Amino acid sequence: MKLILLGPPGAGKGTQAKRLEERFGIVQISTGDMLRAEVAAGSPVGKEAKAVMEAGQLVSDDILVRMLASRLQQPDAAKGFILDGFPRTVPQAVALDRMLAEKHLKLDAVVELKVDDAALTDRIAGRFTCSKCGAGYHDLFKPPAKAGVCDSCGSTDFTRRADDNRETVAARLEAYHRQTAPIIPHYAAAGMLKSVDGMADIDEVARQIDAALAAV
Ligand code: AP5
Ligand code: MG
Ligand code: ZN
Repeated sequence: MKLILLGPPGAGKGTQAKRLEERFGIVQISTGDMLRAEVAAGSPVGKEAKAVMEAGQLVSDDILVRMLASRLQQPDAAKGFILDGFPRTVPQAVALDRMLAEKHLKLDAVVELKVDDAALTDRIAGRFTCSKCGAGYHDLFKPPAKAGVCDSCGSTDFTRRADDNRETVAARLEAYHRQTAPIIPHYAAAGMLKSVDGMADIDEVARQIDAALAAV
């Protein structure tokens, strides 16, 4: 299964990608996570990306296309993948089409999570992640079973993202509407688009995605 998960910041791409990883035995490829790892490592790409990400803008297509191309070469991507956060611009979508065509691969579906802008800020403001295993949580919508302890690994160490503040979220939303939403018609025209109501609760969104994918 080869999927794109598309949606605005806070739509639930990471949350649903983790579930799809388990369900289909395929890897989540999150360009945001990859960029955050570069920033943490202080690599040349990380140094270039840091300020751009903190401002809620998009990192250059050039960097992202190269990053994704080399990620798709990794053996774990051979069984299938869930792209989370890529493509995010029309040139990225065109580059992806070309990369897949060269490998004689075809996407199975593009799942769009539709969420109202007003709900996104609350989702992002309440988000936190286990520092040890990366499991994602939310203060209100997905708290750990035992407060302060990760359900998956038992760690008590959590982090919040540097770009998860209200000002940056506004810029990220603006970037989504201006630069990313224009790729939706590209996939609709190719007959690959499956739109899901991302306003529902996490389990219901997961059920809707399963139903949409059952038909591909
Ligand atoms: P990225 O890391 O991709 O961030 P994003 O697109 O802004 O999306 P988020 O990770 O914030 O949200 P999500 O949809 O994964 O939601 P989540 O599941 O966590 O990118 C970050 C930055 O990197 C970009 O701004 C850009 O600078 C750069 N970048 C990355 N890729 C790039 C590219 N291709 N080109 C250029 N630049 C790029 O859910 C959010 C919260 O809500 C969680 O707490 C969760 O528990 C909760 N939640 C989830 N679903 C529900 C639900 N149904 N109901 C209630 N709560 C829910
Ligand atoms: Mg995410
Ligand atoms: Zn953990």
